Amino acid sequence: MEDNKKHLWWQDGVIYQIYPRSFQDSNGDGIGDLQGIMQRLDYLQWLGITAIWISPIYPSPMADYGYDISDYIDIHPLFGSMTDFDRLLTEVHNRGMKLILDFVPNHTSDQHPWFLESKSSKENPKRDWYIWRDAKDDGSPPNNWLSVFGGSGWEWDEDTQQYYYHAFLKEQPDLNWRNPEVQEAMLSMMKFWLDKGVDGFRIDVMWHMIKDDKLRDNPPNHDYQQHMATYEQLLPYYSTDQPEVHDIVHKMRKLLDSYNERMMIGEIYLPIHKLVAYYGADNNGAHLPFNFQLLSLQWNAREIGAAIDQYEGSLPDQGWPNWVLGNHDQPRITSRVGLQQAKVAAMLLLTLRGTPTIYYGDELGMTDVPIPFEEVQDPQGLNMPDKNLSRDPARTPMQWDASDHSGFSQTKPWLRVDKSYKRINVEAQKNDSHSMLTFYKKLIALRQQEISLKAGNYVPVHADPQVISFIREAEGESRFLIVLNLSHKPCYFSPKNIHINGEVILATIPELEGEKVGNNINLSGDEGVIIKLEN
Ligand code: NOJ
Repeated sequence: MEDNKKHLWWQDGVIYQIYPRSFQDSNGDGIGDLQGIMQRLDYLQWLGITAIWISPIYPSPMADYGYDISDYIDIHPLFGSMTDFDRLLTEVHNRGMKLILDFVPNHTSDQHPWFLESKSSKENPKRDWYIWRDAKDDGSPPNNWLSVFGGSGWEWDEDTQQYYYHAFLKEQPDLNWRNPEVQEAMLSMMKFWLDKGVDGFRIDVMWHMIKDDKLRDNPPNHDYQQHMATYEQLLPYYSTDQPEVHDIVHKMRKLLDSYNERMMIGEIYLPIHKLVAYYGADNNGAHLPFNFQLLSLQWNAREIGAAIDQYEGSLPDQGWPNWVLGNHDQPRITSRVGLQQAKVAAMLLLTLRGTPTIYYGDELGMTDVPIPFEEVQDPQGLNMPDKNLSRDPARTPMQWDASDHSGFSQTKPWLRVDKSYKRINVEAQKNDSHSMLTFYKKLIALRQQEISLKAGNYVPVHADPQVISFIREAEGESRFLIVLNLSHKPCYFSPKNIHINGEVILATIPELEGEKVGNNINLSGDEGVIIKLEN
């Protein structure tokens, strides 16, 4: 049984993702900023989270809203100054919280001085810092690799008569991580922030960092369907997830380990058996390779139960699990499963074994906001207009209160605010015992207070298409049975494999709290309960 040994903050804690453009604007330009985040730290502390992960805040031409970095060791003036950053870090630490930065090592902006040099001539010493290749004899790109954001992954440079590779926009050229100078330069950028005292990094597209050295063609994806992004026409077997990527991850880890209690999250969209390799041999890789299963699985309790078991069973010995319900690239959970079911999803996220990451606004039940075509900002949406792939709907301003622009800004925000903001906002929900926010706050508090929930074992009890149930327990600590109805229909749960005697301590509707329960548990549709077991 998992003992009560001390866990580190990133194992025990709850992570909260801030998309900085949309969290809080402090200077009235319609775009969120660091001072804005500072103004809202009391809220985050009140909510009970442990660590904040902020999407990129570095100088950037904003072709991909900050994921195209032109200087890794400064702050974009839109977000503030380095002084603001230092203050933010201090304020976060003063509140006993941690700060995780987003780090984007796979590619830079095409305006980064390194790329401008690399592009200037074939002889430039930085030429090999990026992936340049001759055209094929007929002038076409060196191979068939596609860009995630549509079209070819190769861009022709007229001046030097070669193509360069970009897995994302042409404004985001991929670095050549096989070059030791690139490795050294990027590690020194990480060191800059670690020396300042940041507590960790979320590493963007970690599995993309190294490509096949022969740049072989990717094979076709025979399951491709028209509605999918064009990138999915091929299986990215040669352009991503290469064995050598683990050496790079290990180098990053070594750097982190030379500091005290710093951590690294890897953004990795891969099947479980490949994902777990990112923990590294002997656990010397990423601390938390992001586990995105809850984002992609069908909302079916049997499938989710099986996926949890597969994940638990695949984790390496010291590998710590984690779960994610939303981020700035995915539709919001409330829009996927509905408002009431989103409470069940929150209960799942916050009772599973492993570090949970909450996406800003999900704690209010914010939904995807339809953005009229002429207002679309996201390049993924703009490049594939017929596929409804814009990520803007999940990136709209945080809904703080019922005042103009939802208390996010004094002026019209960069993306429109949801029409419901007068009802669905922090102010309105804070003191409402039935609200999503109150529910999240209670769930977080319970998790933070109970060792079994933070660090205990996961014991599967039951999963059918409607209901999933499991126990969380740790030696000498309270035991909890979680029962979640992932459907809209009532369910009747009478497990034969365990004896239940306990009391509901937290439920998706507060009316159930305090009820004594035995082996017959009846739940309405969209209902979930946490039961404290007597024995
Ligand atoms: C993953 C990030 O989460 C996404 O927003 C970005 O567009 C791509 N990486 C490219 O950096």
